[in-house]
Order: sequence, then structure tokens, then C-alpha cells
Amino acid sequence: MDSKPQNVRQEPAVVTTVKDIREAVRRARGQGRTIGFVPTMGALHRGHVSLIEASTKDRHWTVVSIYVNPTQFGPNEDFAKYPRTFDADRDACRSAGAELIFVPQDPEIYPPGDQTRVIPGALAETMCGLSRPGHFVGVCTVVAKLFNIVQPDVAYFGRKDAQQALIIQRMVRDLHMPINIVLCPLIRERDGLAMSSRNTRLDTEQRAQALCLHKALCRGRDDLKSGETSTGRIIAAMRATAAEIAPAAVIDYLTIVDPQTLAPIVKPTGRVMIAGAVRVGDVRLIDNILVDLP
Ligand code: PAJ
Repeated sequence: MDSKPQNVRQEPAVVTTVKDIREAVRRARGQGRTIGFVPTMGALHRGHVSLIEASTKDRHWTVVSIYVNPTQFGPNEDFAKYPRTFDADRDACRSAGAELIFVPQDPEIYPPGDQTRVIPGALAETMCGLSRPGHFVGVCTVVAKLFNIVQPDVAYFGRKDAQQALIIQRMVRDLHMPINIVLCPLIRERDGLAMSSRNTRLDTEQRAQALCLHKALCRGRDDLKSGETSTGRIIAAMRATAAEIAPAAVIDYLTIVDPQTLAPIVKPTGRVMIAGAVRVGDVRLIDNILVDLP
């Protein structure tokens, strides 16, 4: 008889090959389960955990992938420095109720001679796409590969990466992938900083400066809510707010866009997205908020 207390979760299986994950997913389907999938690059925090929990709450047999995808990093970006914390990640997956962790090595995802890429359209040519050329090609390519490997019914993405989520939704639609994409809320630290695996790379002083991004977005929201209609003036005020808190932070962009098309907004009405990216030291941070206007 199993004497384990009910609240102790099963250790999730860890697989590294396409063959093994297909076999595990086939068995789960054979038991009548639907498959939920949470793709990640590891260094898991409460934001990632919220996605895993959303999948288990929806009663899916839940797969988490942990793979720091080289093709979505530019040559001068932080691929080598990206945090890798597998043991803690496995614990987080277990407590969130994941059944399986997929941790592939590079050749499993990019077999020798690999040359095919998924190229997104206009949604990838603005905001983060401007300062990270090729980033969303890397994201779409790896997510398409992971979708083909895992073949989930549902995949969970965070609104923290709002542009990524829109691009993935569009890819799934345009390429007729039979996968339902669920978007989950952005999870923040107590002081408002958007949770990110990269936050662990900030020292104490940089951590304080990092808040300039959230504060700038809040300034934009407050200006919009109080009836300011010039997005030019609002963005100037957002820039000033960020500069006041963190003079050394480098603003990549601060913008007010249509949350569906990412087109810049001139006359703000209805639902708008305020989004930004800043660099603090060599750590690049992104954030966004949605604002509902009359
Ligand atoms: P990663 O940055 O690890 O994020 C994995 C998922 O967690 C994404 O859907 C992201 O939006 C979500 N996430 C991260 N921080 C969050 C937060 N604070 N609140 C809510 N959700 C959050 O995004 C990637 O990895 C990669 O590009 C990937 C899709 C795995 C492809 O390599």
C-alpha cells in the first residue's frame, strides 16, 4: 500500500531525447490525459510556476521544457551568463505538479546540418525585435520544434513577454498548429518589478535601479488615466521618470501600443499597452501593463 501523504507530489520524470518524450506523451494519452506544455529557459521563479499551475489546474498532464535556446540570443547577448539552476527548477516543477521535464541538449533540438527557420512577420519588427535582430526567429523556430516534439493540446505563455506571446499566437494560427495557446498574468515582485530569470543577475544597486522600468510604466498609466491624450508627452514623462530613478539605466524603448497589433498609438482610447525595455548594467529587462481607457 502507498503510505505517502497525499500532499507529497510525485518526482517528475526527466527526459532528454525526442524519442523518450514522445513515448511518455503517448502513454499519458493512452491513459486518456490531455497534454499541457510550458516551454521555459529554466531558472524558474513564481512567474514560471504560475504557468505550470495553470496547466495542472486545467487537469492536463503537464510537460515543462527547460532549454536555453542559443538561436534566440544575439552574438553580444547573455547566452553564456544566462542562469542555469536545474536542481531548484526540478523542485519547482514537482511542487507545481508537473509530470515531466524535458531537458534536451543542443543536438536534440538542432540536429547536425539543421537549417530550417520559422520567420515571423510585422509583429516581430517592432519593440524588442528592433534591438534584438533575429531574436523572434530563434523563438519561433524553437517553439515550433518543441510543439512538434511534445505535441501538446494546450501551451501556456506569460503576459510578461507580451510581444512573444502575440507572435506565438500568430505562428500557431498561420501554420495551422492544432494547439490552444493560453496567456497567463504577469507575476511581479512585491515592489512591482516584473519577475524574470535575469533579475538574479542584478546586484543590490542595480536591483534598485531596475524598478525604474515599472515606475515609468506606472507614470504612463497615471497620465493616461488622468486624461492626457498626447502619447508624445506621456512617453517624454515616462522617460524622465526612469531617468530620475536610474540615471545610469539605458532605455531601449518606452512605448504605447495597440495590444493586438503593437502599432504605436497616437490617440489613446479603449485598451492600450504601455511597454518598455531597459538595460541596467548588462542586464536587459522588459515589462508591460495594459490600461483600459474610456
Ligand atoms: P522564459 O523567459 O524562461 O519564459 C518562459 C515563460 O514564462 C514565458 O511564457 C514567459 O512569458 C513566462 N514568464 C516569465 N516571467 C514571467 C512573469 N514574471 N510572469 C508571468 N509569466 C512569466 O520565454 C522564454 O523563456 C523563451 O523565449 C521560450 C518561449 C521558452 C523559447 O525559448
